[in-house]
Amino acid sequence: MRTVAIVPAAGRGERMGADKALLDLAGATAIERVVATCRDAGAADVLIVRRDGAPSLPANLAARVVTVPPGGEMADSLRAAAAALGPDVAEIVVFPVDHAIVPAETLLAVLALLRRPGCGVALPLFRGRPGHPVAMTRAVFDEIRRPDALLRDVVRADRSRVLTIATGSPWVVADLDRPDDLRAAVSALHGEPWSTVAQMFRHRSHRSYRPDPIAAPTIERLVDAARHASTSSFIQANAVVVVSDAKRRADVARLCGGQAHITEAPVFAAVCADLHKIAAACGRHGTAVQAQSLELFLQATVDAALFGQNLALAAEAEGFGVCMIGAARNHPVELGALLGLPPHCYVVFGMTIGVPADDPVPRGRMPLPGILHWDRYDTNTIPAVLDGADDGMRAWARRTNAERGGYAGKPVSESKGWAERMAIAWGASSSYARARATLADELRRLGFGLD
Ligand SMILES: Cc1cc2nc3c(=O)[nH]c(=O)nc-3n(C[C@H](O)[C@H](O)[C@H](O)COP(=O)(O)O)c2cc1C
Repeated sequence: MRTVAIVPAAGRGERMGADKALLDLAGATAIERVVATCRDAGAADVLIVRRDGAPSLPANLAARVVTVPPGGEMADSLRAAAAALGPDVAEIVVFPVDHAIVPAETLLAVLALLRRPGCGVALPLFRGRPGHPVAMTRAVFDEIRRPDALLRDVVRADRSRVLTIATGSPWVVADLDRPDDLRAAVSALHGEPWSTVAQMFRHRSHRSYRPDPIAAPTIERLVDAARHASTSSFIQANAVVVVSDAKRRADVARLCGGQAHITEAPVFAAVCADLHKIAAACGRHGTAVQAQSLELFLQATVDAALFGQNLALAAEAEGFGVCMIGAARNHPVELGALLGLPPHCYVVFGMTIGVPADDPVPRGRMPLPGILHWDRYDTNTIPAVLDGADDGMRAWARRTNAERGGYAGKPVSESKGWAERMAIAWGASSSYARARATLADELRRLGFGLD
């Protein structure tokens, strides 16, 4: 049984601003990916439909090219391809280049469905929505030869011959249509094959890194994704200074309690609350930013935190490890000067990013009832929550000592629970609070107010 894949790739990609067939999808062009996917799934031949005068495709594609006049619809491309099919072709797959990152497994599943008795059209679903690639028997596909017939008409003509299969691939319904789609696709291709939620459960802070640098375009992409975090009243009051220079990272480390992982990681991202742009906007329109406002300080700080957590998650999703660095608030004025921060901008926390060289025992978290309350806060759960947090802390210490020989080279107390640690860290005499005793004054010097 000969199966032929038809790949409509004739559009100009006007919304994308580029020819979609030639988009770079993590090292291979979109058309190369589609052809490889079709071949992997057993297509005997791949017919790519291009418009006359379109840019050349990569050399050595295992595919034939059919051309059509510019400006036609997808159905025109399919009709042109239909005319080029040999008589021995029994199955057709329509695989638009817009769906280039649909995996071969999805196509295999669709083809297996098509081979069931009575099936004339097989298509994949994502969350109930039909998508591409669409597989058809030759007899059904030939209906597209009728003038003015659309692929949609062929699929809908007789529902009894259509079979669908649920897939886990959002790319069956998501086109590569606009630059944002391309960014999402490239990120997905770099990402690990588990969900965002699964990724959240896998979080651990990493404090040792391999020296491998992170390419600037990768950082740009992660920051670009992270900055789509929600932002209070659209103030976008955040910024990040990415420090990759080793000498500068050493200077940053000195100001952040000498933490070795800042020097070791290839990247230190200084996550800033930034009212400077709003100050500039006010200046442009003849007003002055109310930077003394506690509310505005909080809004900017929350914006920075949301961006920072998004950045951490994006980096983790692509296999990097991170550790946030609150010690960036030890010397905020000096750190601000080192990073050239303008007035009304401070580093809320830093973040080391790199390929992890350690494998820390996950810390887990306190029992869920300490965080999740239904309808109203339930204080009755707190004693049990503290007991659970103690147990979790002790279990983490036991595992860390047994499996990693301790933490940061030293054994961890297996008897001290979480509550006692908090009582020491934040009770009567807090070394953390002492270390930041001048923080409020320093924030004022940096152009923030707490009034
Ligand atoms: C805002 C913030 C600042 C932090 N500062 C530091 C720091 O300066 N140094 C460090 O090694 N870890 C720092 N951490 C990491 C925490 O210690 C870590 O998240 C916590 O112990 C839980 O461990 P886990 O992230 O491995 O689950 C910070 C975390 C946050 C959220």
